[in-house]
Amino acid sequence: MQYSFGIIKPDAMQKKHYGKILDDIACAGYKLIGLKLFHLTEEKAKNFYAKHENKPFFDELIQYMCLSPVLCFVIQKENAINDFRALVGNTDPKLAEKNTLRHKYGQDVSANAIHASDSEASFDREWRFFFTENELYFPNDLQ
Ligand code: CMP
Repeated sequence: MQYSFGIIKPDAMQKKHYGKILDDIACAGYKLIGLKLFHLTEEKAKNFYAKHENKPFFDELIQYMCLSPVLCFVIQKENAINDFRALVGNTDPKLAEKNTLRHKYGQDVSANAIHASDSEASFDREWRFFFTENELYFPNDLQ
């Protein structure tokens, strides 16, 4: 079993796509382990996206991520990191394959509906920005 971390971003929150996105994720076989609404501060967003700080789009990305509360989540499935990246799709929703979350719910390369951890190292770093270990609920036989 593997875990991944995601964020439903401000554009998808404002358009009220969060229910459909969570449903798509559940229907794709993921178990929800943690879920939290969170309004990023500029400082926290800069820290979260630190690896992009030299990119030309960094300021736009930080401003955008602080526009409204976002929905952060941890999910579990076999091969969760790579499979969830595939479900999320290309960074640019216009290039994303049909049936990917960014194709369905994203608008452009900035307002692209959803973030997904790109590696186990990123997952290990990212979920800790938003959750403590005792806020994660591991599956039992009833789920
Ligand atoms: P995400 O998966 O959250 O990781 C980094 C984010 O930077 C990415 O999704 C996009 O939202 C954003 N991003 C990447 N390229 C660009 C770009 N050219 N212009 C604006 N934002 C971008």
